[in-house]
Amino acid sequence: ATGCFTYDPGFTATASCKSAITYIDGEEGVLLYRGYPIEQLAEKSNFLEVAYLLINGELPDKAGFAAFEHDVTHHTMIHEAFTGFLGGFRHDAHPMAMLVGMLGSMASFYHNELDLEDPAQRRLAAIRLIAKVPTIAAACYRHSIGWPLNHPRNNLDYTTRFLHMLYEVPSEPLELNPIAAKAMDLLFILHADHEQNASTSTVRLVGSTGANPYACVAAGVAALWGPAHGGANEAVLKMLSEIGRPENVQSAVDRAKDRDSGFRLMGFGHRVYKNYDPRAALVRKMTHEVLGELGINDPLLDVAMKLEEAALQDDYFVERKLYPNVDFYSGIIYKALGIPVEMFTVMFAIARTAGWVAHWLEQQDDPENKIGRPRQIYTGAANRDYVGVDTR
Ligand code: SDX
Repeated sequence: ATGCFTYDPGFTATASCKSAITYIDGEEGVLLYRGYPIEQLAEKSNFLEVAYLLINGELPDKAGFAAFEHDVTHHTMIHEAFTGFLGGFRHDAHPMAMLVGMLGSMASFYHNELDLEDPAQRRLAAIRLIAKVPTIAAACYRHSIGWPLNHPRNNLDYTTRFLHMLYEVPSEPLELNPIAAKAMDLLFILHADHEQNASTSTVRLVGSTGANPYACVAAGVAALWGPAHGGANEAVLKMLSEIGRPENVQSAVDRAKDRDSGFRLMGFGHRVYKNYDPRAALVRKMTHEVLGELGINDPLLDVAMKLEEAALQDDYFVERKLYPNVDFYSGIIYKALGIPVEMFTVMFAIARTAGWVAHWLEQQDDPENKIGRPRQIYTGAANRDYVGVDTR
């Protein structure tokens, strides 16, 4: 009745909901957005078109995409008083803390006049989130470095506009290498959705209570921040930097095999993929393209490749089906593009906003498809009588 059901495709799992948005075959390493293979979307599409696909279920024709792009483009600005919230954060606040705070307060600017019983109003909220999250993300970064905020430029495409808001300084026009927007757009596509991952399930659980979409997405950002989830890309770069050189890789692999060490290879393993994460292969290919195009010789790439090679030849990782995931190489690209490591997970959040709002819309359109109230296995004390403090 609550849309929860148990299925048994060879393993026991209780699904939290039904969804037609993304399909993953973890054993085979398959990822489909609305039936389209991620490899084809990565090669032929762009992030905003993928956002349209995730929300609407079909690829747009030219007029449909033009209308969607117009709607998104004309909702990219944020209320001046809203940007004032940033002043309340210390300059060294983690950008994910700022993003959670800004999105949580977004409802105070854009929710009051919304009637979420009206599908058109729900779609407007989704458009606002997709449009404004890059503006807010760039503002968080600019606040952290004490630079003036940039307003979104409507004559730029979605990803290029974001990079301009991130980097442009008043004193000189930004010369953006085309590879930067190409790589960022690919990373946005690859991070756009991923079925019932922790943050998307969080968005759906909060959405089940009837909370507004801005609160739902703020909760999703909070869940994404964890190093076991979206925070892994930041953790991977710190791990690669600590390993430092290819000759240190084997000791890192050996340490990761010792559970008592508490050390894991960040960017390795996945709750669902027990094969190579198809996204990781695409990110690794783009990493070589970006470093080649920018003429960067980043020793961390050598470390990452050596680490992957060593782990994939080690029985411990092979037996546990631990492969690189989407976070393993992405940080090297972000670093090459000048994105500070604290902003890595914010990049993930910008992309995943498309998936979060698609799942929220899907859920709100089907009252039966709410995540039910989870139950538990009780492991506490049995029923017992109260004892006064003097006799304890
Ligand atoms: C994302 O859900 C999604 O779709 C998420 C995501 C998305 O797009 O939304 O794909 C994005 O979150 C990718 C994952 C990013 N996280 C990391 O890279 C962090 C490092 N990875 C691990 O913490 C771990 O692999 C998980 C949490 C990702 C998955 O854990 P599992 O599959 O549930 O594995 P487990 O914790 O049950 O461990 C199984 C065994 C254990 O050893 P044994 O008890 O059998 O001896 O594998 C070991 C673990 O110790 N193990 C690892 C390891 N991951 C699991 N050992 C070393 N390094 C690792 N990374």
